[in-house]
Amino acid sequence: DRISLWGGRFADGPDDALAQLSKSTDFDWRFARYDIAGSRAHARVLHTAGLLDDAELAGMLTALNTLEDRVVSGAFTAAQADEDVHSALERGLLEIAGADLGGKLRAGRSRNDQIATLGRMYLRDAARTLAGGVLDAVDAFIDQAEAHRDVPMPGRTHLQHAQPVLLAHHLLAHAWPLMRDVERLVDFDRRAALSPYGSGALAGSSLGLDPEAVAAELGFAGAVENSIDGTASRDVFAEFLFVAAMIGIDLSRPSEEIIVWATNEFSFAVLDDRFSTGSSIMPQKKNPDVAELTRGKSGRIIGDLAGLLATLKGLPLAYNRDLQEDKEPVFDAVDTLTLLLPAFTGMVATLRFHTEKMEHLAPRGFALATDVAEWLVRQGVPFRVAHELSGEAVQLAESRGVELWDLSDEDYAGISEHFTPAMREVLTTRGSIDSRSAKGGTARSAVDAQLERARAESARL
Ligand code: ARG
Repeated sequence: DRISLWGGRFADGPDDALAQLSKSTDFDWRFARYDIAGSRAHARVLHTAGLLDDAELAGMLTALNTLEDRVVSGAFTAAQADEDVHSALERGLLEIAGADLGGKLRAGRSRNDQIATLGRMYLRDAARTLAGGVLDAVDAFIDQAEAHRDVPMPGRTHLQHAQPVLLAHHLLAHAWPLMRDVERLVDFDRRAALSPYGSGALAGSSLGLDPEAVAAELGFAGAVENSIDGTASRDVFAEFLFVAAMIGIDLSRPSEEIIVWATNEFSFAVLDDRFSTGSSIMPQKKNPDVAELTRGKSGRIIGDLAGLLATLKGLPLAYNRDLQEDKEPVFDAVDTLTLLLPAFTGMVATLRFHTEKMEHLAPRGFALATDVAEWLVRQGVPFRVAHELSGEAVQLAESRGVELWDLSDEDYAGISEHFTPAMREVLTTRGSIDSRSAKGGTARSAVDAQLERARAESARL
């Protein structure tokens, strides 16, 4: 009987087509060491409950250690006939411990509570690793911001020139969402930190096993409150995937900007050779493939999330085999981000900026029109009127093909008597930037303070 976990009531083994469909070892083998850790904890509660004596516990733990060594060395792997990681490892345990002792381990647990627990163990570790990778990207933005605290650039809305900002301010605007993503991973962990082990198939265990003891040994904060919920829910997986998708999206937005900045037309940034690629036919090409793959793969992670949500929708309680579909999207998201993050971070850390070009363009396209309107407001002009008068100045300058500072004092006086030559003090990039000095603004003083808080937040997370 090739599927030894449940042969008893069957007269015949599964058809090949079913066996192929059912098999998950190609992907769930990733859980092998978590499964063995769970088995160790389970052996201990069986012992505490009097279902294994001292010698049996010692023999079981030794056998599990041997099994783990063989898994790590590659000496033991899943066989064709193994349905999933649990069946494979049970076969391995029986080979080492013998059927009499090895056969005692399965009492009071089900693959349903096992898989739900192993998934959470995996996700909690993955969240920690990913958070480290995201914080590296955050630090790359913070370092670049620190190095460019005095560089004005055109701030945009609708991709149109809006108001001048500091390059540091813009770069830090990419760091904060990523720090919130790390915070989301930390918060996710509070919900993932409850162990379903002991839920059994769905109704809990009758053998006097202590789920809290298993939970503690496996590094959880506690055991789940409800065995049906413990085995049937995957919202924690979906939450993880949402955060993974959000990380992808938060990496894709600077990627898009870097792609645009690296164009000949923008020429705001130059990619380091180590983080750009060439063309097989066009010798001059230097392509932003890291940024494009980041942008592209972020869509794939959204697909992972959407796929799992579709799997979960409408599933009745408790465990259904549909839930086996929870693993591949999660693995795909983790693998994708694991590949992306170091490349993305390297790209950002090595980006060089054409700061003169940025500074030259910062006030152009009438980006100081808001400053003109706000100057009028400080002279007591209602904003509605000030907006109108500044707009007239823009129209006049545009009709002549010049910028606001090219209009003469007479031009301004002709638009309104509220305009005096003193207004020219705000017609400079520096004046505009330095005036926005309240918390969160783009003035050098505000950005310096922001930078310090960003560093502290990154270090705290
Ligand atoms: N391999 C399954 C999964 O990944 C766990 C086994 C539960 N199988 C079952 N027939 N109850 O979800």
